[in-house]
Amino acid sequence: MNEVSQQILGRLSSASGFLSGAALSREFGMTRSAVWKHIMMLRRGGYGIEALSGRGYRLSSMTGTPSGPEVARFLNTSAFAREMVWEEELVSTNTTARVLAGKGAAEGLVVSADRQTGGRGRLGRSWESAPGVNIHCSLVLRPRVPLQRIPQLTLLVAVAIHKAIASLLPDLSAAIKWPNDIYSDGRKLAGVLCEMESEADCAHFVVVGIGINVNQESFPPHLSQSATSLLLASGRIASRPQLLAEIFNHFEPLYHEWCEVDDLAFVLDYLERHAWLKDREVEVSRLHGKIAGRVSGLSALGELRVVESDGTVHLIGSGEATLKQ
Ligand code: BTN
Repeated sequence: MNEVSQQILGRLSSASGFLSGAALSREFGMTRSAVWKHIMMLRRGGYGIEALSGRGYRLSSMTGTPSGPEVARFLNTSAFAREMVWEEELVSTNTTARVLAGKGAAEGLVVSADRQTGGRGRLGRSWESAPGVNIHCSLVLRPRVPLQRIPQLTLLVAVAIHKAIASLLPDLSAAIKWPNDIYSDGRKLAGVLCEMESEADCAHFVVVGIGINVNQESFPPHLSQSATSLLLASGRIASRPQLLAEIFNHFEPLYHEWCEVDDLAFVLDYLERHAWLKDREVEVSRLHGKIAGRVSGLSALGELRVVESDGTVHLIGSGEATLKQ
């Protein structure tokens, strides 16, 4: 896909309905038959574009595949996702990325698949996702930071995902749910699963797994109340390769900055402004029991600050927060 096709794609994906051939030819300074050639090129690249005489063009179906060459068109990173392994089906992109990292894969390698047969979530849960419409990918990192800082990566990636979604769908209201989710309208849009291999004091590698419900039109009954997709939340079809590239475009500089500093202070303001749990009554399950109280914010280390009704303040490093009914 060339640059002009890419710009036309961007224009179609930000439009809420049909765009006429005449309008596109005016906007891009080309003939209508040249516009048509770009549409054909985009269709060959996997983008579903309806063409109706008298109305024009509309992006209508699943857009592109989040594979290396497609993602590369939107990338401006130096290392992240410059090398990509793409498979139609994997058990879990995290599992494949861990194997490759164990064999020496360089920082920045991304494994991406159109469907997973054994996708994993946090806390031993499974990650269910419809094939061919969502993002399932894993990034290999080799951070040289103290081991206790590694959990902060989950929130840092959540910032990058949130920023990427905001850049593609600025009208969508999405929020970061500590420690690893992106929510919209109280339902989960995306999750992050960081796994690592380490010695007692240093990480050999971290695999950052990202699952995003992008163009999924419906969910099975057991998920329909708790899950949503960008399509359901915004009414827009999103380009998976563009979204994936945007995540790494945002994440790479954040990651390099994070490696140079001591904590998450440099993104704390962003995390607080887009926090889904802020000022809510929650119950947090931890390894050793539960804590109930009101969330007053996050610490620079990424801990959730929960204030109990008697005023006791807890800083919680890991756990699962649910809203109190
Ligand atoms: C969670 O919310 O519990 C985390 C979900 C993480 C899912 C992604 S999909 C890509 C990668 N491979 C996996 O098996 N899991 C992560």
